[in-house]
Amino acid sequence: MAADKQPVVITIDGPSGAGKGTISRIIAKKLGFYYLDSGALYRLLGLSAKRHNVSITSENGLSALAEHMDINFITGDNGQFKTVLEGEDVSRELRTEETGLLASQVAQFPAVRGALLNRQRMFARTPGLVADGRDMGTEVFPAAELKIYLTASAEERASRRYKELIAKGEDVSLPALVEQVRSRDESDMSRDASPLRPAEGAIEIDTSDMSIQDVTDTLLNILAVKGFKLSSQVTN
Ligand code: DC
Repeated sequence: MAADKQPVVITIDGPSGAGKGTISRIIAKKLGFYYLDSGALYRLLGLSAKRHNVSITSENGLSALAEHMDINFITGDNGQFKTVLEGEDVSRELRTEETGLLASQVAQFPAVRGALLNRQRMFARTPGLVADGRDMGTEVFPAAELKIYLTASAEERASRRYKELIAKGEDVSLPALVEQVRSRDESDMSRDASPLRPAEGAIEIDTSDMSIQDVTDTLLNILAVKGFKLSSQVTN
């Protein structure tokens, strides 16, 4: 682990539904690090394009929007994360399947990815950052101290999403979700610009048969072995 004042970066990449978001937040909290949900930037861009009537196929229009989007990530007093686009709380709309699909489409364009590159790198601040996404270890933070690749079977990832949506009272079909997960994997893994793949040196963890606690424990062990210090204020 680097001993200088550069922020330490841990990257957690993988397909949608592998548990990256939940695990990255837990690990960031345990370490007292900042957290970057890079997928949220692509989702925000998809929403912003819809609102400003920018075509989802216009690479130039989308990349201009990506550079100037007015966005904010806020943690409330109750610890809840809020995502704000042009002053409006869009946290709920951000997580829908429709927005995920829009995000996956805008993420195909190299100019869009280029426009978001610096915005993502600016999240790296002392003492450190946990960065969650698809290309955190391969493109955005290639020099990261620790790279993790979380994955799980498409069926398991769809089933997790199914439970989440049912709990929110949404009417969804499991086979349709399996299909959506597969098609998003296909588009994220086969695109030319920064396709989803494990970074060189990444530690791969298949979470299909693991609980959140199992994955957290596995990562905490890895962090201990690598010499990371857990934040003393955090007890859970
Ligand atoms: O992690 P997520 O489901 O919120 O991501 C939404 C989409 O954004 C995903 O299908 C692909 C894209 N994405 C990306 O291309 N690169 C990232 N680093 C993060 C997300």
